[in-house]
Amino acid sequence: MKPRKTYTPRLILFVALAFAAGPAMSADVLKGRVLYNQHCQNCHGAKGQPQMPGTPDFSRGERMLQADHELILTVRHGKGMMPAFEGRFENEDYFDLVAYLRTLRR
Ligand code: HEC
Repeated sequence: MKPRKTYTPRLILFVALAFAAGPAMSADVLKGRVLYNQHCQNCHGAKGQPQMPGTPDFSRGERMLQADHELILTVRHGKGMMPAFEGRFENEDYFDLVAYLRTLRR
């Protein structure tokens, strides 16, 4: 019979991966919507349609062909006329916001 500890490294890896994937998997779209309506819709529109020039149209999926972490970096650091939101939200809120942005495409 093989010693049981043979499986320990794989178990540790599995648990580590499960935790690493956690925030993306548990993104809360409804919370994202609340935050979006409070902080983003003045410029980006309630349905993702731009309210000021130079703003991408999320209802057409503009700028959304990027990974979540890339979009989150832009939200954190700002871009052009868009202010930085670093430190304004909890870490998981950025995932919630991006998850909601992805629902705006029509
Ligand atoms: C003051 C207006 C304003 C507010 C408020 C604002 N944005 Fe923006 N946002 C912009 C503009 C303008 C751009 C285009 C920036 C550029 O390309 O120069 C943009 C671009 C983006 C992009 C595309 C980034 C890219 O890669 O080009 C994302 C994603 C985004 N905003 C998300 C958000 C989220 C989420 C919020 C709320 C937390 C938010 N924005 C609040 C004006 C705003």
